[in-house]
Amino acid sequence: MSTPEKSSVVSGFYKLPVEQRRAFVKNFSNLTGDEEKIFSSCLDIQTADRMIENVLGTFELPLGVAVNFLINGRDYLIPMATEESSVVAAASNAAKIARIKGGFTASCSEPLMIGQLQLLHVDDVVTAAKEILKHKEQLLTLANAQDKILVDLGGGARDLEVRILDSPLGNMIVVHLIVDVRDAMGANAVNTMCEALAPMLEEISNGKVRLKILSNLADKRLVKATAVFDKEKMGGEQAVDAFLESYTLASIDPYRAATHNKGIMNGIDALIIATGNDSRAIEAGAHAYAARDGQYTSLTSYHKDAQGNLVGDIELPMAVGIVGGAANMHPKAKLCRKILGITSAKELAEIAASLGLAQNFAALFALSTVGIQKGHMSLHAKNIAVMAGAQGGEIDRLADELVKEGKVKLDRAKELLEKMRKKSK
Ligand code: MEV
Repeated sequence: MSTPEKSSVVSGFYKLPVEQRRAFVKNFSNLTGDEEKIFSSCLDIQTADRMIENVLGTFELPLGVAVNFLINGRDYLIPMATEESSVVAAASNAAKIARIKGGFTASCSEPLMIGQLQLLHVDDVVTAAKEILKHKEQLLTLANAQDKILVDLGGGARDLEVRILDSPLGNMIVVHLIVDVRDAMGANAVNTMCEALAPMLEEISNGKVRLKILSNLADKRLVKATAVFDKEKMGGEQAVDAFLESYTLASIDPYRAATHNKGIMNGIDALIIATGNDSRAIEAGAHAYAARDGQYTSLTSYHKDAQGNLVGDIELPMAVGIVGGAANMHPKAKLCRKILGITSAKELAEIAASLGLAQNFAALFALSTVGIQKGHMSLHAKNIAVMAGAQGGEIDRLADELVKEGKVKLDRAKELLEKMRKKSK
């Protein structure tokens, strides 16, 4: 567990060699020597073979850590697994600006997931719906009998809702089972309960249950985060106004909102993957929630406070777990949880929302000022330098040259490398 009094602020973290970065994280999060070694290890083939079918090997992604995060008064280092350059640096920079005004404040609802049962071939849907609700307590008891452990932990089926939907097949009933899944993502618990309820629902309604499955639109498991971004640090009130102008497009136009929300998910997915959670479930929930009022829109909103600072807010479903699934099997996922020092799924959700807001702020800030290509350039230049054949210290020197010239192209990199090598002979 990390000690709350430790600070996650490190300037020039990106300039440190990998070993020193690991040493910093080890100290911050009280990792053991064995845990530190996990950074260099790959998922073992036996574990991989138990996780999916037809395994051939494993697939690696870079694992970085975002620094500077202050969330609900506590410092966090946030592990991020992503293939995209600039994402970790952007989140860290945004977190640094947010700290000036106290960091992120985040909160989360109860971990309530929704399971759906689709009920067809019912003669009188209105009467059947009433009958189902009359049997609510019995249905909830049956659901809870499927998962004693969850009930012992304080979770379990909480409520039942009945919807009548008009469809090309005629009216159908959709029963929503609401389950408190505690620290799990909840898919297994909810799906098992739904399947167990089907025969009783068929008996009550004289209908046929077809689908019995969790909904990824987890809109009863919402997380919110907010932060104030200092106007002076942003370059003055004009910069805040430029930011708000850029943001406005995402609030009214789905073409922009899709890209805007993609940027939010750059951060959230990276944390979700690092902690062994299901990024597709989080993505599906986020985008469905973004379209909840009939038009797809931004998951964040921004305004100016009385002093002219920028205030950012985010709200989205967050079905994450810290128990079960890959979160328990994958050694790096366990390590990442230890780096975070989290003890509940709620805390992980609050970190994810704060990270999403940070990522979105960073993207819009760059887009409303210098654009994002400048930030992308230096890592891109390093990749081009490697592709051109640069090695060791040559990589940084060549990348710097390329950025300085403003021409980050492979043919130019090869020419410059040749010149550099001739000069140093
Ligand atoms: C790129 O991965 C993400 C951005 O396009 C997000 C945005 O436009 O807000 C930079």
